[in-house]
Amino acid sequence: MEGVLDFHLRQILSSIGGIDGCVTEFVRINDAVLPRRVFSRTCGELHHGFKTAHGTPVTIQLLGSNADSLAANAARLAQHGAKRIDLNFGCPAKTVNKNRGGAILLDEPETIFRIIRKTSEQLPADCLLSAKIRLGYNDRSRGMENALAIEAAGAQQLTIHARSKADAYKPPAYWEMIAPIQQALTIPVIANGEIWTAADAQRCQDISGCQDIMLGRGILARPDLALQIKKGEQHQAWNWSQCLALLKTYFEITSPLYPEKFSGNRIKQWLVYLQRTFPEAGQFFQSIRRLKSKVDIMTQLELAQRHFDQIAKKAV
Ligand SMILES: Cc1cc2nc3c(=O)[nH]c(=O)nc-3n(C[C@H](O)[C@H](O)[C@H](O)COP(=O)(O)O)c2cc1C
Repeated sequence: MEGVLDFHLRQILSSIGGIDGCVTEFVRINDAVLPRRVFSRTCGELHHGFKTAHGTPVTIQLLGSNADSLAANAARLAQHGAKRIDLNFGCPAKTVNKNRGGAILLDEPETIFRIIRKTSEQLPADCLLSAKIRLGYNDRSRGMENALAIEAAGAQQLTIHARSKADAYKPPAYWEMIAPIQQALTIPVIANGEIWTAADAQRCQDISGCQDIMLGRGILARPDLALQIKKGEQHQAWNWSQCLALLKTYFEITSPLYPEKFSGNRIKQWLVYLQRTFPEAGQFFQSIRRLKSKVDIMTQLELAQRHFDQIAKKAV
């Protein structure tokens, strides 16, 4: 997830368990073949065999419309050791779409076909090529057409975010529209969109017919969601204190990477999602919203942890 799910957050989330694979934020491809250091800015795992420290495989995602350039960059990434490359045809951002990237290409299945064909031709057999789409651009009518083109062109896996670009991120996700596509394709189809709980995951699997699912905002709102889905009642759902500990780790890692006044931005962003599950996250967000100093934010993190521990002790 662009601007949110960076290298460090992938390390933290994958260490909790339950995640079979992560995808990077997209790397925008224009005409040039990018140097290794540019790829590694988005995909720090490039230096670690394209795996997180926990051993979770990481797919690097590319976005663009120049078939030759996408293919050349993908081939270069394979030389750097990438074993999975994903092409983004789902991004709804205006600036991206204006430059013929992301979801806008869903109105041009022949362009998508050309991009996938070129890219799959350039990749070695041990590098998996996948694509991510929405159901269409202005409406949800072109999911099947694009999916068939993607399979015919040689992609080995397809993720479908079950909304159109026009739907943006508005609920619901139309999981039922994935079902006929999943049936028509022979490559694995992964369902995505609006999975916030283990019950949502089950319903999504039942309705879409897909065994595999992709979590987006849901795993940010509930960091142990993948474990909840995989282990069911054997897993004790996390409480706010466990999330706070993760936030603290994330802050310790990311705050030195930014100028002081932006040092809290990354955890503030994550808190926006955590609020959906934990009311305490909303209160904590308010307590640090205006803070610009690392020391002040760390103090609040420690205070919140102590406060929670005291409440928990009283409850016992
Ligand atoms: C802030 C944000 C950034 C995103 N960036 C990407 C991205 O870089 N690549 C991608 O394939 N999808 C991206 N997405 C889309 C998500 O991967 C996912 O398809 C979408 O949010 C629907 O799933 P969800 O309802 O589980 O969040 C992004 C979504 C959000 C909210």
